[in-house]
Amino acid sequence: METMKGLKRSHYCGELRESHIGEEVTLMGWVQRKRNLGGLIFVDLRDIKGIAQIVFDTDVSLEAFSKAEKLGSEYVIAIKGEVCERSSKNPNMETGNIEIFAKEIRVLSESQTPPIYIKDDDTVKEDLRLKYRYLDLRKPYMQKNLILRHKVANIVRNYLSDNNFLEVETPMLNKPTPEGARDYLVPSRVNPGKFFALPQSPQIFKQLLMVSGMDRYFQITKCFRDEDLRADRQPEFTQIDCELSFVEIDDIIEIMETMMQKVFKEALDVNVSVPFERITYKEAMEKFGSDKPDLRFGFEIQDISDVVKDCDFKVFSGAVANGGSVRGINVASYEDRFSRKNISKLEDFVKDYKAKGLAWIKITKDGINSPIAKFLGDDIVNNIVEKMSAKEGDLLLFVADKNQVVFNALGALRNEVAKRLEILDKNEYKLAWVTEFPLLEFDEDANRYVAMHHPFTSPMDEDIDKMETNPGEVRAKAYDLVLNGYELGGGSIRIFNSELQSKMFNLLGFSEEEAYEKFGFLLNAFKYGVPPHGGIAFGLDRLIMLLAKEDNIRQVIAFPKTQNASCLMTDAPAKADQNQLEELSIMLNLKED
Ligand code: AMO
Ligand code: AMP
Repeated sequence: METMKGLKRSHYCGELRESHIGEEVTLMGWVQRKRNLGGLIFVDLRDIKGIAQIVFDTDVSLEAFSKAEKLGSEYVIAIKGEVCERSSKNPNMETGNIEIFAKEIRVLSESQTPPIYIKDDDTVKEDLRLKYRYLDLRKPYMQKNLILRHKVANIVRNYLSDNNFLEVETPMLNKPTPEGARDYLVPSRVNPGKFFALPQSPQIFKQLLMVSGMDRYFQITKCFRDEDLRADRQPEFTQIDCELSFVEIDDIIEIMETMMQKVFKEALDVNVSVPFERITYKEAMEKFGSDKPDLRFGFEIQDISDVVKDCDFKVFSGAVANGGSVRGINVASYEDRFSRKNISKLEDFVKDYKAKGLAWIKITKDGINSPIAKFLGDDIVNNIVEKMSAKEGDLLLFVADKNQVVFNALGALRNEVAKRLEILDKNEYKLAWVTEFPLLEFDEDANRYVAMHHPFTSPMDEDIDKMETNPGEVRAKAYDLVLNGYELGGGSIRIFNSELQSKMFNLLGFSEEEAYEKFGFLLNAFKYGVPPHGGIAFGLDRLIMLLAKEDNIRQVIAFPKTQNASCLMTDAPAKADQNQLEELSIMLNLKED
């Protein structure tokens, strides 16, 4: 096998242009493709910057030619040669106007036939891609995604540094917490029977840094949550985590939306205008059935309870009588795209969200078409049409139920309809803040309130009175940044007073002792002069996913986990050796399947 001895790369393959014609260059990379045309061999040589065409010509070097004859896909080679104008130019290639006539070649490493193709349009199953991730990452678009990720992290880091944020590292080995998602636990060898938890976020530490007078903190850091995974969730993921002292909601929002504006401009050359739209949680739920609405399209939810509360169609009037509502969306001007069969598929779809059915009215050129029109009567149908501002060509879809079911079902339906109509443009970015989240939500299983954001979030001043009398109604100083139907980030102004913090723990069902046992260090810290503070954390993976126009965060993470939280390449997690377990004082109690 040959080595690089005495050779130094002069250029990247993808950088070469007509301006380099006449220069002698030394290139290194992987063989993408080889074509042997008898006296000439063409090799597409690939490195991180792109592909260049290398020509081996018996007239230039017989030795180089005969070595090139033996090359296979993914061999790693170095070549030295002259950049020449290409005889048959390829306008589809950035380096398509030139080619390099090789005088010398060194074969640095051979390759077996790779199990996946190294090309962007490879359609191999994701399992195989993850098993051979190091090959998958050779694909130009995967490299582009990771380059974008690096670039965005740099923009963010520079922006925050310029705005007086200090990057401070916080510990990975922490005390397990009772709130939030499930922890990843790490046994302590020197403290038998005791465990650390990996951080779900640096929340408490960043607040303590504010108590320490660090003023503004940030960290681009890994967080760990043992929760059910989806396309936009990983068990370990990266947050852009920030905390600021002496600020109110508007200060944080302003600084962060300017940062996002910079990210879009510098990473994508896309202009997003500030201030971003703001909508309250209540409005988001009522109009879009979601606290992370996709604002790229309309089809807003409308309430027709008033119109149908006394009608003979019991599905509708009954829902209103039982304290629920009847609401619908107007799929404006797409009536002809939904046959009965298609609508029945939508009905199956909303049933997954606990809706009992999906009622519909079409306004066709021949008049009203609806299976429920006969139950409702002409007058009520006309009133519904008017209330929904419907016109010819529109399709109206309704769900009647408890409000929670109505919002969930219609919120999901709204997105589903837009997806089926293929009206979602990945080049359009609709950023918005959702504000005034409820402080608490009732957990039916635990039969108690839990914090909607986290237990350190401050209630809104005007709602503090309701904490004891009507906790479900209290709004929080919490905000999320949403982008095209995804929650990109979330944060809040924090409680900075130990009395209010104790009251909050109390509402969450902790006794004084439990609160001190879990969060005593925070409550103690609050006794020594605390600046009012607040912050936010953005999901870096999600941000990159949306900037890269991908549908899955695995596409922007170098070595991601699968849906069941394992790594197909390394086979993690794996069994531990018996002696390792003994050292940790751990005995397994495995249940049979
Ligand atoms: P939160 O829990 O809302 O807030 O998380 C902030 C952001 O992190 C991203 N995110 C995830 N990304 C990928 N996989 C996951 N499993 C995952 N979970 C969350 C989301 C989310 O908006 N400490 C608070 C922030 C604060 O109050 O300052 C926190 O962690 O994009
Ligand atoms: P049914 O009377 O059950 O045959 O329902 C008549 C129509 O009303 C069907 O199109 C159902 O899909 C629809 N429907 C039934 N229950 C609901 C509901 N809770 N909300 C909206 N539509 C419903």
